[in-house]
Amino acid sequence: MYNSKDIKALQEATKEILQNKDFNDVNTLREILRFHEHRYYVLNEPLVSDGEYDRIYKRLEKFEKDNPGSITIDSPTQRVGASLNTEFKTVNHLVPMLSLENSYNPDDLVAWDERLKSLFGGAKVEYSVEPKFDGASLSLLYENDLLERGVTRGNGVAGDDVTLNIRQVGSIPLSADFKKYGIEKIEIRGEVLMNKNSFKEFNEALISEGTPPLANPRNAAAGSLRMKDPSAVRKRKLEAIFYHASFIESTAENKPSLIPSTHSRILELLNQLGFKTPVKEIKVFSTIQQVIAYCLEFETLRDKLSYEIDGMVIKVNQIELQQQAGSTSHHPRWAMAFKFKARQATSKLTNIEYQVGRTGAVTPVAKIEPVHIGGVTVSSVSLFNENIIAEKDIRVGDTVIVERAGDVIPYIVKPLTELRTGKEKKIVFPTQCPVCNTDLVKPEGEAVWRCENINCEAQVVERISHFVSKDAMDIKSLGEANVRKFFSMGIIKDIPSIYNIDFARLSNLEGFGQKSIDNLKSAIENSKKQPLHRLIFGLGIRYVGETTAKALAKSVDSIYELEQLSTEQLSTIKDIGIKVSESIYDFFRNTENTKTVKDLDEFGVNVSGEQKEETKGRLTGNTFLFTGTLPTLKRNEAEQLAEKNGGKILSAVSANLTYLVAGESAGSKLEKAKKIKSVQIINEDEFLNLINS
Ligand code: IVH
Repeated sequence: MYNSKDIKALQEATKEILQNKDFNDVNTLREILRFHEHRYYVLNEPLVSDGEYDRIYKRLEKFEKDNPGSITIDSPTQRVGASLNTEFKTVNHLVPMLSLENSYNPDDLVAWDERLKSLFGGAKVEYSVEPKFDGASLSLLYENDLLERGVTRGNGVAGDDVTLNIRQVGSIPLSADFKKYGIEKIEIRGEVLMNKNSFKEFNEALISEGTPPLANPRNAAAGSLRMKDPSAVRKRKLEAIFYHASFIESTAENKPSLIPSTHSRILELLNQLGFKTPVKEIKVFSTIQQVIAYCLEFETLRDKLSYEIDGMVIKVNQIELQQQAGSTSHHPRWAMAFKFKARQATSKLTNIEYQVGRTGAVTPVAKIEPVHIGGVTVSSVSLFNENIIAEKDIRVGDTVIVERAGDVIPYIVKPLTELRTGKEKKIVFPTQCPVCNTDLVKPEGEAVWRCENINCEAQVVERISHFVSKDAMDIKSLGEANVRKFFSMGIIKDIPSIYNIDFARLSNLEGFGQKSIDNLKSAIENSKKQPLHRLIFGLGIRYVGETTAKALAKSVDSIYELEQLSTEQLSTIKDIGIKVSESIYDFFRNTENTKTVKDLDEFGVNVSGEQKEETKGRLTGNTFLFTGTLPTLKRNEAEQLAEKNGGKILSAVSANLTYLVAGESAGSKLEKAKKIKSVQIINEDEFLNLINS
């Protein structure tokens, strides 16, 4: 798509834009942004940092804001669209989206090859072979070089118009130079995917916020296409890969010469035009034996690929022969899927166990009769949380379908309800921790039950290790291995017991000379003087990392004050949102936890706050919150400026707020502030005047 000369020139222009603040040639800005999008999303080889890209993007955005008449529909700023408030529109595909005929073994392919040969008479058939991508299928329509619409498969004849969402997928060009090849209108087919890494990250984020993870990348991709908020689609890091042109309308003169006559070269052309296509993976063969060998070879690579595939697709490469073969009402006769070995099996669910993780999350785990899936024996399958059990109506005694795909952890697809005998038992989630019997809690809006007892044996060793770790109380020589050893010998049993170690017992231990005992003693003694934020961080409250712990320590006189704060009060502290406030609040409602704090205090551990000397200045006595994009100041610059002048930063709009400084596209905070009379809403200029006037 770009030759080395182009790349050099585009790189030069990039440099120039980054250096020259007044560079405002809008066409060049767009060309440069498109070039870097292609490098990043299609080639995965970015040539600029995210920050540099953003700077150029902002420049274009500002220019277009000042000159709205200059905006074009395919400008890189125009991916972002409004949210959808109605259902997706149903639209007809130009050509029905057929499925593929499946084959499961080499014999099926040999038989297909013979059928085709007799159909084609003497013509020599070539086969192209490419992966069968396991995502959500998508059809794009371009007219006069512009992306007109994107449609899901739907029922094959008509699908959902998801144009606004797919415009957010960075590797889908908003415009492409089809006319250069005489193409006026083209419908292209492909698959939207979430690669394995993004899927893993995505699920980890879901799990950490207590939302059930998605079963597999295919579901993640399909779900993403149907989201109501296009800007959320962007965050999902989707890829789109294209493998078929289902309809081409071209100008008569160009038709014979410029449009390739084989499938593999059409994919090359699409790739040239900026689309991601399987050009690296596709291979063309003249015998079915070679095809089979390539399919089998690819199957062995399956787990090493960055994305999921569920087989290979073999296509007659010559378009003329494809047309000659035609299609049935279900599938083309010129293409065949070669499906890889199944990654599903059925088994019987015999029992449910509840595991308590180190942060107290209670996870139901299904015990199943061992089955082999994809080369691994599976006997335990996580059910993640109570909701999943209810949604799928899983019962003990059920025969269940279990799937295990590549790196994806095994999961239960569904129970086979038709095989039920009536003896299956409904699963009743425990209300108490299976390890320590403390009542379990489930924060509102979350799906996971938790044991909040800091001394629960399932969590305690990990919790003690965290408490003594470098960024918390920093008790050197009491690393995880020693914590485990001491715990198993009963030398320590919980966090406070660290300050009550019977050192005489240590002298009998191998590897513990007098010197190491002395070191440990003084490390423990020194830790009593640690500043409060280290203690708060060390307690391991969910969502409370070092930064939050520092903010909390600065806001209170002692840890006892922190214990008393309501969620409302907590959420007025800088950078502390509602989820964190609730977690802190819940933590201190557990008597084991407050007792831990009291015991630590009694052992002489510092529990006093770190009240900073307040900066006095023009803004003293006033509180501030910044929202939206300010014309010149970055959010953190504005906050620092306010603090330097004695102002206090709040994290949420409340009656305690004096000024809301609102910039461009301020959202819900502005709306909320408008409803509270005492809050003054000002802009950046007015804010600067408060300091300078
Ligand atoms: S060609 C007219 N090629 O698999 C033929 N399909 O199970 C159009 N798929 O509906 C399809 N990878 O969504 C083709 N390399 C590939 C594919 C592929 C995945 C999907 C496609 C199709 C489904 C059939």
